Amino acid sequence: MVTGSHQSDIADSSLAGFGVKRIEWADLSMPVLATIRDRFSRERPLDGIRISACLHVTAETANLMRTLQAGGAEVLLCASNPLSTQDDVAAALVQEYGAATFAINGEDSDVYYSHIESVLDAKPHLTTDDGADLVSMLHSKRTDVIDGVLGGTEETTTGVIRLKAMAAEGVLKYPIVAVNEAMTKHMFDNRYGTGQSTLDGIVRATNILLAGRTVVVGGYGWCGRGLASRADGMGAQVVVTEVDPVRALEAVMDGYRVMPMLEAAAIGDMFITVTGDKHVIDRHHIEVMKDGAILANSGHFDIEINLAELESMATGVDKARPFVDAYDLSDGRRIFVLAQGRLVNLAAGEGHPASVMDMSFANQALALEHLAKNASSMPPAVYDVSGDIDRDVAGLKLQAMGVGIDSLTDEQQAYLEGWHEGT
Ligand code: ADE
Repeated sequence: MVTGSHQSDIADSSLAGFGVKRIEWADLSMPVLATIRDRFSRERPLDGIRISACLHVTAETANLMRTLQAGGAEVLLCASNPLSTQDDVAAALVQEYGAATFAINGEDSDVYYSHIESVLDAKPHLTTDDGADLVSMLHSKRTDVIDGVLGGTEETTTGVIRLKAMAAEGVLKYPIVAVNEAMTKHMFDNRYGTGQSTLDGIVRATNILLAGRTVVVGGYGWCGRGLASRADGMGAQVVVTEVDPVRALEAVMDGYRVMPMLEAAAIGDMFITVTGDKHVIDRHHIEVMKDGAILANSGHFDIEINLAELESMATGVDKARPFVDAYDLSDGRRIFVLAQGRLVNLAAGEGHPASVMDMSFANQALALEHLAKNASSMPPAVYDVSGDIDRDVAGLKLQAMGVGIDSLTDEQQAYLEGWHEGT
């Protein structure tokens, strides 16, 4: 299918009508992005810029694409996870919004990577990534198009970690703004977005009652904090596992039980990983788990649960219901894995609600505008979003929510800037 001058690859273009409804519904909760879109359509800061994006193909992402287009950009989009694509949204992007899209829910690994190549074939000036798979491909298999790239943005913690490793090795070839590091991104998206959408995905997949269950949260970063507090709010007994002593202490003082995963493994009813690291749940943990334990992951990649080990321990695997695989172990226990260990909030649910993606994607749009103006004078490195952008996004969000705040009086401002006044 041809979109503008580019081919697209989506599941079913007849779904476009549903996709439009979904995109418009999300837009109602994205007032900050809408304000930016209005300004972009007047000022056209992205005129002549081609942007290749590798993001979850959701209604919220579609509204980001519309905003970038309003600014004058040509956009191409592929999925940042094989299971997160909303096929109706992909259809709407192609049919109604003229955004070349390469994403099919359930695509296999070969198709996933071929779709990343397709958005790179367009020779982008800017890149937008969620997890750094696109940047990684640009710096390995597809260095042929890297010279034309001015800069990029990265959405998530895992991607920022990968990019910092590339910068430390001296291989990063262009400047990338770490949108995840904006306070108006991680304090809200990672905490309240992941907190709510992970439980939403789990409940949609299983319809289990959380009250009274022991829920083990692996990792107490911003996502873990949000998840623990939401599970606690639903009446679960929350246990936290951590490797960082400061975060572990914070979890203790926030009122949770903290223990090593091996101890937690024996008492948990449900395990949710949000660490960003490998094999947080491994064979020796599974060996001591209760019959019926449920395992889910909401970290970016499907590496947190060692599924290969679980498979080798299993005598059979059965689909208990959509998004729930039952692994039969030789001792008679059954272990349930949700969404094949992939992001459960996006695979079994719809990802973070629009009102939180509003701020994340406002940061994305403003960071891309900044790069379009300034990238040529920014050496290759990983950059934070400027504090001004963070304050603007927070201010616009408060305004949209009808929340007023105080401002400093001249006397207060002078006091904060001085040192003479004491006791
Ligand atoms: N990441 C988490 N939730 C998301 C959503 N709704 N859209 C795009 N990316 C996301």
